[in-house]
Amino acid sequence: MTAWAELHVHLEGTLEPELIFALARRNGLTLPYADIAELRSRYEFGDLQEFLDLYYANMTVLQHREDFADLTDAYLARAARAGVRRAEVFFDLQAHTGRGVPAATALEGVNDALSRSYDRHGVSSGLIVTLLRHLSAESAMEAYEQARASGVPMLGIGLCSTEVGNPAIRFKAVFDRARADGLHTVAHAGEEGDASYVRDVLDALRVERVDHGVRVVGDLALIQRLVDERIPLTVCPLSNVRLKGVADLTEHPLADLLRSGVRVTVNSDDPAYFGGYLDDNVEAVRRALDLTDDEIRTLALNSIEASFASAGEKQQLASTWA
Ligand code: HPA
Ligand code: ZN
Repeated sequence: MTAWAELHVHLEGTLEPELIFALARRNGLTLPYADIAELRSRYEFGDLQEFLDLYYANMTVLQHREDFADLTDAYLARAARAGVRRAEVFFDLQAHTGRGVPAATALEGVNDALSRSYDRHGVSSGLIVTLLRHLSAESAMEAYEQARASGVPMLGIGLCSTEVGNPAIRFKAVFDRARADGLHTVAHAGEEGDASYVRDVLDALRVERVDHGVRVVGDLALIQRLVDERIPLTVCPLSNVRLKGVADLTEHPLADLLRSGVRVTVNSDDPAYFGGYLDDNVEAVRRALDLTDDEIRTLALNSIEASFASAGEKQQLASTWA
């Protein structure tokens, strides 16, 4: 079977309504929704912030180490069915420590599932702790230090949450520190913010990949820079439509960016909220944008090449497309 790498998925965004209710029951919590149908009826978002408000609210059901392990394992099982053989998952540590969950509890639960991902699901995996850009630089540094102190293996750090009005430069110190510690760096930019936000994460944070990045469209100099510097964009098509960044999938810039030579990859972002996992995203753009089999293959090979897997693993994953 052909292999994909998923490089942009928030573990908390894989929290399905069924699991929200199951965890609430297990933890003795009462949810503000009568049932799954009522919860699902809230999954209409006018913009990123409306989504984030519900996303953070639903996380309160994640309390114990096994809750984080169950969440992570459920994603890995579903991702494996989507053809994912390498998953570099985002985890919003501060969203849990900020409501009283110890960093070690959350991280060890995630790691319980990630450390078994290859044996259980045939998926190699890595953890990227995503710092929240609506919080302070001090909070980001504290979260980074807690993550390091936990001893849980980390592939890298990222930056997510509310983009517009929260300049990336504030997080320069923690990104410099992570890089000095040998970690990889990525950041969300150009989802709601304009192309200048993408320039900022490249210049100020020196990230290796840009998460989303679709708002570079129209900035020819920046697009040329992405091509020249071979900077991958981890694009999330269904997410962009559901958060109203793109009016309709047929108008999604993914195909144009790909045909301009940008290293575009396809990802699911928050699949429990946006209507689909990696396979659903690939199929949706294939249809909406009339992608050829060759272009699908390029998207998959881009995902493998843009991953932080070892050279040997990349070669093995790429060989499934030969
Ligand atoms: N953008 C920013 N932050 C996020 C997202 C997103 O799409 N999903 C989860 N956190
Ligand atoms: Zn995201």
